[in-house]
Order: sequence, then structure tokens, then C-alpha cells
Amino acid sequence: MDSLREQIEEARRFIAPKLEDYKPKIAIVLGSGLGSLAEGLNETISIPYSEIPGFAASTVQGHSGRMVIGKLDDCEVIAMQGRTHFYEGYDMQQVTFYVRVLRALGIETLILTNAAGGLNPVYRPGDLMGITDHIFMPGMAGHNPLRGPNDDQLGLRFPAMLIAYTPALLDLAEREARRLGITFHQGVYVMLAGPSFETRAELRYLRMIGGDAVGMSTAPETIVANHASMRVLGISAITNTATGEGEAEANHDEVLAVGREAGPHLARLIRAIVTRLY
Ligand code: HPA
Repeated sequence: MDSLREQIEEARRFIAPKLEDYKPKIAIVLGSGLGSLAEGLNETISIPYSEIPGFAASTVQGHSGRMVIGKLDDCEVIAMQGRTHFYEGYDMQQVTFYVRVLRALGIETLILTNAAGGLNPVYRPGDLMGITDHIFMPGMAGHNPLRGPNDDQLGLRFPAMLIAYTPALLDLAEREARRLGITFHQGVYVMLAGPSFETRAELRYLRMIGGDAVGMSTAPETIVANHASMRVLGISAITNTATGEGEAEANHDEVLAVGREAGPHLARLIRAIVTRLY
């Protein structure tokens, strides 16, 4: 088995010639039902994950699984349409491999989006939440993507995580959301492994420990992006209430449907953010 660095290099070598003259510095990861942003890109080059050496293909409905390189207005970006999840059976190294490859391709800023349940009782389906911090439950239980030998050329053995989400990017997102009239909260994202949704008691617990939104992605990628010295912005689209009150049950179809509704807001916001960053 090749070392992690060799695997990254193999994927980079496969993708780099396809970038032609593009030199994107920003990548955007599109979560469940949020893939529509990629359709707004111009002059695109599209690479299915299944063709990229070392990439795992997503098995989940609503995650189409391709890398799209193109222009958002005049800004060069890479959009990752779909991601793989720990609950699909991949390990944490596999679900974060693409972050390593983006870094090797020259990406400096990673915008991670996801669909999430709203633990905070103020949140409504369709709202957006800028991630201030996370609680990475699988990571705390031993499934940290940095577990195992550390390659010092990729990052530190013990990277700090006190400021995992870049405050300047969050401030920018908040300002742009206000300007565009888009509801934008700021809060703590809790990641669970899934795939089952939470019990009522778990939801009460997650709220008690300080969570505002709950989902099944993003935290491992944020860890690896920080390890690789990237700037990170995380945005959750709240697709359902997850307060444990009332009868409503979260389900994947609802997550996808509300995600699609929130998609245009999120796309407008990301467009505004990216324009300010260039
Ligand atoms: N729980 C966990 N993950 C989710 C949810 C939820 O309620 N909604 C969207 N992703």
C-alpha cells in the first residue's frame, strides 16, 4: 500500500492536467440536496469521483459524486458535488482524502456545507447556520481522521483545534447574509456517525452539551483541513427541527427536499462570499 502522501500525489497528478489554466484557491463542498450550486458554475470541467485514483464513490441518494471546476461569476472554484460519509462504511481517512487532494491542488480555503437538524429551538427548516465550532462525537470516541502515523510534511502530530473555523470567514458570511436578507444563525455543529437519526434522549443530551445543529459530516473534514493549514468556513442548512419535542421525525427525503429549497439561498450567499474573497 502506498503511503498517504503517495496516494495524494497520484490523485493530484490525475486531476492537475485537467485544470488547464485554472488556479482555484477556494473549494466548496456541497452537502445533501445542496448540489445545485454546481449548476451555476460557468465554463466547467467535470470529473466523476469514480475516475479519481483513491476517491471513494458516494453511495447515498442526493450525493451525485463529481468534482466540478469552473467559475462562479469570475472566480475560479472547485465544487465538490457530493461527499462520502463515515456511515457508508468508509473510514475517517477515506472520507477526508479529498481534502488532502484539494490542498495538494493549491486550495487554501475550504467552504463546507451540510444539511443538519436544528437542535436550537429558534432554528427553522430552511435557515442557514454558520458553524462557530464543532463537537465531533466519533472523533471523541476514537474515530479521528488523524489517528495513526503522522506525516510531518502534511501537518502537526497534535494540531490545535481551538479556532477550527476561521472567524474572518464567518464574519464575512454573516455580513453578506445580512446584506442579502438571508436568515443566518451562528452556532455549534455536533457530528454523529449516523446513519440512524437521534433518539429523543440523545437530542436532549446534544442540546445540553451545547449543540445548535446536528449532522453526519463536516467535522472530520474540518480537522484534516486544519491539519493541512487551510482556512475553513462551515455552513449548515437546517433541514428539520431536531429538538426532540413534538411528533415530527427526521427523514432523508425531507432533508433532501428542504436542502433543495435552501439551496438557492446558500448558493447566493456562497457566491457573495467567494466574490469578496477574490
Ligand atoms: N440529524 C442528523 N443528521 C441530520 C439531520 C438530523 O436531524 N438532518 C439532516 N442531517
